[in-house]
Amino acid sequence: MRKAILTSQVWRAVFRRPLPRSPREQKQAARNNFFLHLHPATLPRQRLRLTTTFCMGGISFLLFIILTVTGLLLMFYYRPTTAFAYRDMKDLEYAVTMGQFLRNLHRWAAHGMVLTVIAHMARVVYARAYKPPREFNWVVGVSLLVLTLFLSFTGYLLPWDQLAYWATSVGTNMLRAMPVLGAAGPASLVDLNTDVGFYFLGGRVIGESSLIRFYVLHVFVLPVVAIVLMMVHFWRVRKDGMLKTPL
Ligand code: HEM
Repeated sequence: MRKAILTSQVWRAVFRRPLPRSPREQKQAARNNFFLHLHPATLPRQRLRLTTTFCMGGISFLLFIILTVTGLLLMFYYRPTTAFAYRDMKDLEYAVTMGQFLRNLHRWAAHGMVLTVIAHMARVVYARAYKPPREFNWVVGVSLLVLTLFLSFTGYLLPWDQLAYWATSVGTNMLRAMPVLGAAGPASLVDLNTDVGFYFLGGRVIGESSLIRFYVLHVFVLPVVAIVLMMVHFWRVRKDGMLKTPL
């Protein structure tokens, strides 16, 4: 059976060669296969140990994929208007098959991702992997951390319940208190409505225009920027000589 698979036309079409046996053949196989090529052909044993990274970067990425898939499914049921948002969340809880599970999976994966990204950053600090030549990837990482937090923040308003409304009020009021970009910044001398909080909410208080702004940021703008930055991040891990060892 195994031999039949390894010599089949499908196997040859995908992998171009039979299962590699010698170390030389294994290296060639890694170079020729797109997925295996993501790792270098040879790796020091220490970099593969779980305790080197605790897989925190990888788990953050896995949670991001779970969030994307569950988020896409939630989009089939959720309408981002003040008339429907809360009702659609209740429908998900009580009427849609597995809706509560889907919503909880999305929410817990989001909480988990915030924790694993912070743990990943702590691991990078511990390994002093922020130093040259990895300093640019550290900056990309900081942007990913900010994006992760903004994704959580923009998602918070979407259920349109009391918690969402008031938590977002507190958050956007904090934006107004920012130096320079806030309500007392130089732009407010020209027009009182030009502080950063106003642009986020699309008005002075949370309403219909805030909900659609947060929705578009949450389901499109922030995830697309995060995907692009993650690709750069992974590419740089590879180009900067993979993980920093020894710790
Ligand atoms: C969405 C968030 C993030 C994802 C998915 C992610 C993913 C990864 C992965 C898979 C690796 C390689 C394996 C590992 O170290 O676990 C890595 C390495 C790295 N990450 Fe991240 N990361 C994220 C956020 C961050 C943050 C917040 C920072 C720092 C501020 C950061 C800085 C770095 C650095 C400097 C490396 C290279 C580490 C080394 O060479 O030892 N990353 N990242």
